Amino acid sequence: MRQSSGGYASTYAFLDSPLIQKIRAEVFDHDIGQHSWTTVTELDEFLVDLELTESGRLLDFGCGPGGPLTYLVMNADVTATGIELDADALRLAKNRADQYGVAEKIEFQQVDANRELPLDNETFDAAISVDVVMHLIDRKDVFADIARVLKTHGRLLLTDAGIVAGQVSNEQVQRRSYNGFSQYVADGFNEAALRTAGFELLKKEENSQSPIDICNRRFTARTRYKTELIDMLGRDAFDREQAYLETMVELYSSRALIRYRYLCRKV
Ligand SMILES: C[S@@+](CC[C@H](N)C(=O)[O-])C[C@H]1O[C@@H](n2cnc3c(N)ncnc32)[C@H](O)[C@@H]1O
Repeated sequence: MRQSSGGYASTYAFLDSPLIQKIRAEVFDHDIGQHSWTTVTELDEFLVDLELTESGRLLDFGCGPGGPLTYLVMNADVTATGIELDADALRLAKNRADQYGVAEKIEFQQVDANRELPLDNETFDAAISVDVVMHLIDRKDVFADIARVLKTHGRLLLTDAGIVAGQVSNEQVQRRSYNGFSQYVADGFNEAALRTAGFELLKKEENSQSPIDICNRRFTARTRYKTELIDMLGRDAFDREQAYLETMVELYSSRALIRYRYLCRKV
């Protein structure tokens, strides 16, 4: 079986450094510790769409450094499980949950999401997966496994920034895939896969502006701190990320790629 390449490792190793924190403060209006294209505005909509109640249990599938999950747990007062492959991301996520006083409410597990989840059937009331699915090998299996651990009528909120809607060159795909193993799918593919896995689609919304804004701001802030970043990461790593950010803006501004959010319910 192919393994996802875990291209986030170098990012997470430096995420809590003072320099990266300074850059994040310039990029995000409200930095909640996300390493994705989500924002507080979007997460506040998640809070409504997920219909979480105080006794609810939430799964975050690919929680990264735990920003969105911590935010949702703090605001909905639920208990949760965050699964993630990267050990550095989990260390950051645990620190974050601790810092915000919700460590008791969140269990984090190091899990390769390409394998069956080590979680019982019908455990969760809701699940989220923020900008993760494009890094997984077979999303049809993944959606079926998420359906397995959700209770009947449990809700899933999924975002995917890997939808192809226009012309994309091989060079653009190479630069866009900066974070490692990545798959891009045609519009409609996720809906069909979700249906087959036992979900009913309630809502589908586009949010491609968020990657454009975040990448533009990150490019500008990183240019300002170029010397310090090159000292920390090396010239090649600096240039590669700048090329990735420029390509992101190019692809989403032309709508060659789209980011969608899907709200579904387990039938
Ligand atoms: C764009 S980040 C999103 C992180 C988090 N959802 C957020 O919004 O901050 C994608 C995450 O997917 C994780 N990931 C990629 N492949 C994975 C796998 N096979 N199993 C578990 N997590 C994986 C990466 O390590 C990374 O943390």
